[in-house]
Amino acid sequence: MTTPTSPIPSQPAVPVRKVRKAVLPAAGLGTRFLPATKAQPKEMLNVVDKPQIQYVVEECVASGIEHIIIVTGRGKSAIEDHFDHAPSLERFLEEKGKHAEAEMVRRISDMVQVSYTRQKEPLGLGHAVLVAKDLVGDEPFAVLLGDVLIPGENPATKQLIDVYEATGVGAIAVEEVPKDRTHLYGIVDGESAPQPPFGARLLRIRDLVEKPKPENAPSNLAITGRYVLPPAIFDCLARTKPGAGNEIQLTDGMRILAQEQGLWAYIYDGISYDAGDKLGFLKATVELALQNKELNEAFRAYLKTLKL
Ligand code: UTP
Repeated sequence: MTTPTSPIPSQPAVPVRKVRKAVLPAAGLGTRFLPATKAQPKEMLNVVDKPQIQYVVEECVASGIEHIIIVTGRGKSAIEDHFDHAPSLERFLEEKGKHAEAEMVRRISDMVQVSYTRQKEPLGLGHAVLVAKDLVGDEPFAVLLGDVLIPGENPATKQLIDVYEATGVGAIAVEEVPKDRTHLYGIVDGESAPQPPFGARLLRIRDLVEKPKPENAPSNLAITGRYVLPPAIFDCLARTKPGAGNEIQLTDGMRILAQEQGLWAYIYDGISYDAGDKLGFLKATVELALQNKELNEAFRAYLKTLKL
């Protein structure tokens, strides 16, 4: 299904709509993190001082997103509770004079409008996105995986929104991975399409390949868990047959989108952590603890004492 040229026009054909909404699929079972995820959502596992999904919601807010749609499933109600008001906890903290803590708790629920929809069965990431169709409506939207953390001052989602709003074409974040690890990722087959102000970070996607062996990989650019997509993706996903793992894969829906409307790969500026995986989670914890103003010094000193 390789397309030699994808249909990306040099200028958007119609005025481009602002990206206001984001979908956060969080209905997966988190089997790589059992038994921690037996009775709690992996998106609620704590990294330094807040659950992972709060980092992702904060990235949305920092990117100008106004409405977040979280796709949940059975056993995920802790996510809804976390972003809800907690009047008795706030009152308790105020009464104890813990005003800063009360404000912090209030801020979590006041940050942004959050809606929830349920994926009744975990039929795949593409299916989870499709479940959000009615809440998204006919407008472009971002997708952020609830267990991929991309900390930093320059939110990856905002970088993709800038590409979409300048070109009217969807964009997905990619990053370089070691060539011998391509079998762990969705890999982009793209051709360089530099244009100002994005420069050489922009590639036109010819095709996407799910987890290719290193010898078959068309590049070492891996899909990272941040996407900005036009509403046409819903029609593509509705036509997508179950793929790897018998699941409706977002990658397969995006292959159709890339062929029919074009799709950018954008080598974003930043580092991602797959916190749904034990090693990725540990790396995120260490890196974010080192970036934390309160903990940095003591934690750094502690790490230096370790005999490795
Ligand atoms: P993952 O494959 O990392 O999540 O999907 P998983 O299935 O929970 O993890 P493992 O492999 O069993 O450990 C990436 C994101 O897509 C969501 C997950 O919640 C995660 O945030 N997802 C995945 C859904 O919402 N629905 C699905 O059917 C599958």
